[in-house]
Amino acid sequence: MNNGDVSRRRFLVGATSVVGGVGVVGAAVPFVASWNPSAKAEAAGAPVSANINKIEPGQQITVEWRGKPVWVVRRTETMLENLEKFEEGTLRDPDSSGADQPPYIEGIYRALKDEYLVVVGICTHLGCSPKYRPEVAPADLGEDWLGGFYCACHGSKYDLSGRVYDAQPAPTNLQVPPYRYDDDDILTIGLDPETA
Ligand code: FES
Repeated sequence: MNNGDVSRRRFLVGATSVVGGVGVVGAAVPFVASWNPSAKAEAAGAPVSANINKIEPGQQITVEWRGKPVWVVRRTETMLENLEKFEEGTLRDPDSSGADQPPYIEGIYRALKDEYLVVVGICTHLGCSPKYRPEVAPADLGEDWLGGFYCACHGSKYDLSGRVYDAQPAPTNLQVPPYRYDDDDILTIGLDPETA
């Protein structure tokens, strides 16, 4: 074996370890069964489509887009009602005026259809992936917790629209990616609604 072979082998071992690590993280998250873009299309940052008709009320699924986790949460009526209960001063940017989101995303639900939240699952502080915590008032998050996302890295809290609470390490609300509905069941991330 010459030196070239040795370094190539090292590279392959390294690459395999990285892929293995990603696989472990991915395995913890249920992916939509019909979501299966080719690796090539994914690498190029192509839009990805997901069939959302099997998501149960209250359930979160993760779709990978441009190497990032994008969460789709099917919010229940109660969850939507709870989003209206935040008192002034609880959230840093309740109107999402400083948030990274497309111009067609507005209001407190931050979604094309109120029922489905679509956000990039990366904390806006230092990039950890927050945890979906839909339960109301769990012991570890306190009585005021109405469900949302909790980033264990430095404790940032987001509501069920991905809006960050006030006085958190995270500076802004979670990003909403461009997306559209191709029909009632198919959501495409990476394309705006008006794109042909
Ligand atoms: S990375 Fe989320 S709170 Fe720091």
